Amino acid sequence: MTPNRWSDLSRPPLNQTALRRALLHEKHPLWTHLEVLDSVTSTNTELVSRTRAGEARPGTVLVAEEQTAGRGRLDRAWSAPARSGLFFSVLLRPHAAAERWGWIPLLAGVAAAGALARTAGVDTGLKWPNDILATGADEERKIGGILAERVDDEHVVLGIGLNVTLREDELPVPTAGSLALAGAQGTDRDPILRAVLRAFEDWYGRWSAADGDPASSDVLEAYAAGCVTLGRSVRAMLPGGEELLGEAVAVDGDGRLVIASEQGVQRPVAAGDIVHLRPATGK
Ligand code: BTN
Repeated sequence: MTPNRWSDLSRPPLNQTALRRALLHEKHPLWTHLEVLDSVTSTNTELVSRTRAGEARPGTVLVAEEQTAGRGRLDRAWSAPARSGLFFSVLLRPHAAAERWGWIPLLAGVAAAGALARTAGVDTGLKWPNDILATGADEERKIGGILAERVDDEHVVLGIGLNVTLREDELPVPTAGSLALAGAQGTDRDPILRAVLRAFEDWYGRWSAADGDPASSDVLEAYAAGCVTLGRSVRAMLPGGEELLGEAVAVDGDGRLVIASEQGVQRPVAAGDIVHLRPATGK
C-alpha cells in the first residue's frame, strides 16, 4: 500500500486550522503567519530563502511534517521520519543589539525545555549550548535541538526540532531519545507545538523588553538553572580541533560556557561540542 497521511494512525497530521486559531490572534502578537508544509528540504532553509526574497514577515512560523534535508548545528544533518516530531522555524526581527542575538537560541532552549516538561510531564534539561535532553533517573538523551541562523542585519531564523514519537529502532544515534521513549504523558503534537511557541513568545518578550540583557530579563538565571552541563566534568571539542577537559562552572553574560581546568584556570568557550563525563560531586 502506498503510505498516505492516514497510514500511520499513531502519527496523525498537524491541524493547521486549529494551530492558526490558537496562535494567530491578539493574545499572541509575536506570531503573524503559520503554515504547515507536508514536505520541505528544511524549514530553516525555506524560511531563510523566503526572507531573502522578501516573502516572509517577522513572526512567520513554518512547520513541516517532513524534512528531506534537515540541518543541525556544526553542519550536521537532522533527520527524522515524517510526523515523528515537530520540525519548525520562526522568523524574528530582534530589536536588541546584534551582539546579544546569541541569546536567542539559548532562551529558546529555556522555553522549549520548560514547555515540554509542563505539557508532556517529562523531566528535561539543557546541554550547553542548546540541546534539549530528557533527563531520566540514570540517563540523559537528546530529544531536541535548535539551530539559529542570522539572515541579514535585521533577521534571524530560529529552527527547532523535537523528537516526539520516535521509536528506539528509529533513533539516529544511541544518545538520542524522544518524548515517547521518556514516558511522556501525551504525544499529541498540536498542544506541544502551541505550548513551545507560547513559552518562546513569553521569554523572547522578556528578553526584548530588557533590550536583550540576559541578566535583567532573568534569561541567564533560568538558563543556568536548566543547564545540566553546569557542575559537570566535560570534554569540549572546539572548532579548530582543540580539546579541553575540565569542569563547567558557569555560563557568562555572552552565553559562553566557562570551563575550569584541574589547575583552576577558567576559559570561556563560545562554540563547540560538549561531552558530559562523570557527574561532579554534589550534582
Ligand atoms: C542540532 O541539534 O544540531 C540542531 C537541530 C535543529 C533541527 C531543526 S528541525 C527544524 C529546523 N530546520 C532545520 O533544518 N533544522 C532545524
